[in-house]
Amino acid sequence: MAAASVFSQILDHANRADPYPLYAQLRRTPVSRADDGTYVVSTYREIVALLHDPRVSSDPRHRAEPGGPPTEPGDGVSGLPSSFIALDPPEHDRVRRLLTRHFGPPHNPRRIAGMVPELVAVVTDLIDGFAGRDRVDIVDDFAYPFPVTVICRVLGVPREDEPRFHAWAAAVVDTVDPTTGDFAERFDRRRQVFAELGRYLAGLAEAHRRHPGDGMLSGLVTDDDPDGRLSLEEIMSNAALLLIAGHETTVNLIANGVLTLLRHPGCLDRLRHRPDFSVPVVEELLRYEPPVQFLTSRVALDDIDLDGTTVPRGASITLVLAAGSRDPDHVTDPDRFDPDREHLEHLGFGGGVHYCFGAPLARLEAQVALAELARRLERPRLLDDPPPYRTNPVLRGPRHLPVAFDGLV
Ligand code: HEM
Repeated sequence: MAAASVFSQILDHANRADPYPLYAQLRRTPVSRADDGTYVVSTYREIVALLHDPRVSSDPRHRAEPGGPPTEPGDGVSGLPSSFIALDPPEHDRVRRLLTRHFGPPHNPRRIAGMVPELVAVVTDLIDGFAGRDRVDIVDDFAYPFPVTVICRVLGVPREDEPRFHAWAAAVVDTVDPTTGDFAERFDRRRQVFAELGRYLAGLAEAHRRHPGDGMLSGLVTDDDPDGRLSLEEIMSNAALLLIAGHETTVNLIANGVLTLLRHPGCLDRLRHRPDFSVPVVEELLRYEPPVQFLTSRVALDDIDLDGTTVPRGASITLVLAAGSRDPDHVTDPDRFDPDREHLEHLGFGGGVHYCFGAPLARLEAQVALAELARRLERPRLLDDPPPYRTNPVLRGPRHLPVAFDGLV
């Protein structure tokens, strides 16, 4: 089958539950062209090369054909400046550096690691809420509320405002789902949500300026870094980015994790008795069932020769991370879920200057969530395998994950 039609099959919802045989077909042509002219790159070595190539931009303003659906805050929808995921160096590096100072690693690795008790407390509350039931939806009842609560704590959102954040997170997620209305209507809803979220964040930033406390917003508004402070608008658009970039991704990592563990009972059993097994489990999950299947955000700033193909200047590039992480030239027996692998390098968090900013937090959230679910749910069973999937082919994961169990420990 031609590479172009393989890619359109990957986009087809009918193949969402198991796109991996299609990725294997796609890898036969490491650099191919999709029906819309985008260059699709699917092998590990070529993806890594482009992630580190300064001729590849993440700034949509460089596209030869501007337009297309908005994907991130700061994409013109809300009138806010671009968030740093859509900027190139050196602007990207300035914003990322200032945010990193107040988020934790790498400058202060203990800050994220120090969140373990708080993460366990949030997870414990959610699992305690299962009491008296014999089945739950791991997506709606657990994986969805967990990361929003955590990001609220990181930013310094007062507890009483958390429910508003849950509603905004749900509304934003809804606007990226192509099944929830036509493009113009979703665009309108997105603008409204961002306007509200922006107003809220501006007010909160002001409150933190007057009365600095814990959390990232306080740090940002009172920072006197020699690089200068972020403007209020920059804080708004990047705080919104953290909410969005860290939400659906973490939801899918946890849901994919529960699904994979229930399909591999030996691993689930090991995890139940050894919570630290969650570390290699989460790493292998990021390779085997990655929440971000591909990056659609790249543009060639120059003609780039890659594996015998010239990607022309201005062309859009899609990096199929999920195909690269299962490339047999990179990893042995790639379709086997094996947390005991010795060399576990994957593309789950991307690479290069845009390598996931929230990776340490995401890892920890998933480790705590999976270890606690494994420990506390008695005899958990899948009620629907494969479960129904979301329509989104990029941020791929189950829409629901019904699980039955006998009780709680
Ligand atoms: C970037 C994956 C969780 C914040 C990225 C990228 C990937 C990724 C693949 C690269 C994007 C690109 O190169 O264009 C994931 C996965 C997660 C996760 C799989 C969870 C399992 C989080 C969390 C946060 C976060 C929890 C924040 C709290 C970000 C930000 C960027 C990013 C801000 C942009 C970094 C930059 O442009 O320099 N993430 N992410 N992510 N992620 Fe994550």
